[in-house]
Amino acid sequence: MGEGRRTILITGASAGIGAALARVCAGRGYDLILTARREGPLQSLAEELSAAYGVAIAVIPADLADPDAPVRLVEAITVRGLAVDGLINNAGFSRTTGFLTTDPADHAAMVRVMLSAPVELSRLLLPGMAARGWGRVLNVASLAGQMPATGGDTLYGPIKSFLIKASQGLWLEMQGTGVHVTALCPGYTYTEFHDVNGSREQVSAAYPKWMWMDADRVARIGWDAVEANRPRVTPGVMNNVLAALGGMLPNTMALKMVGGHARRLDRL
Ligand SMILES: NC(=O)c1ccc[n+]([C@@H]2O[C@H](COP(=O)([O-])OP(=O)(O)OC[C@H]3O[C@@H](n4cnc5c(N)ncnc54)[C@H](OP(=O)(O)O)[C@@H]3O)[C@@H](O)[C@H]2O)c1
Repeated sequence: MGEGRRTILITGASAGIGAALARVCAGRGYDLILTARREGPLQSLAEELSAAYGVAIAVIPADLADPDAPVRLVEAITVRGLAVDGLINNAGFSRTTGFLTTDPADHAAMVRVMLSAPVELSRLLLPGMAARGWGRVLNVASLAGQMPATGGDTLYGPIKSFLIKASQGLWLEMQGTGVHVTALCPGYTYTEFHDVNGSREQVSAAYPKWMWMDADRVARIGWDAVEANRPRVTPGVMNNVLAALGGMLPNTMALKMVGGHARRLDRL
């Protein structure tokens, strides 16, 4: 159970891992603020979870690709008289068509949604958490961020590497404040992610079911890790083996490994 009435802000809560994290947090007694672009799924989830667990849930739609969105979101939260005790930076997407053929606007949106918005929301909300002596920040990164590169979705891996390193730096800085910080690094997870980037057919053909995890399990592992204040967690044995290989292999061999992966998915 959450201690007292504590409120967790979850970005990208309209689907996938974000919606699963909302279920986990509501089940543990936390009040929630849910955000994403699509209001309908957020409202349905809020109704389902407040009925099931008796928690208070606010829905505030926002497009995090908009540079003003983090400030406006925090203003909207403040106007409602809410304080944010936990932040889950989860919203994200990828483009797999190669660097030169990806719309520059999509590149900019990737950087804003998965890198700038988490940094800005953390900077806006961490002071309050530290002042109150309790906080949780869970940054949903990726196994891709533990690899030397991602081919075809060129910026995705580096953005997630950034998020892992920034989380670990914050974890160090927040020691003794009561604020826990964790980077969650899922591997292949069943969500809308691969439908949105148009690679469902390729990833399903290339990787067998046992390499995939369901979003509920990933969410439970992620939330348990931030409660335990682990700086980084990679769910699943196979994903941990791959992460270890990515870190241990000489760079040229690791690049060959991720190049093979990208070719199997027709991304190179
Ligand atoms: N699925 C995987 O295999 C996998 C593996 C590793 C890491 N991840 C990471 O897990 C996180 C969640 O992804 P998922 O797998 O759950 O994918 P998903 O089912 O497609 O959900 C993505 C969420 O992000 C939101 N989002 C996307 N663009 C947004 C924007 N411009 N502004 C606000 N919200 C936005 C979407 O909501 P709206 O469309 O309503 O805005 C949705 O709620 C991402 O950061 C992803 O990189 C996924």
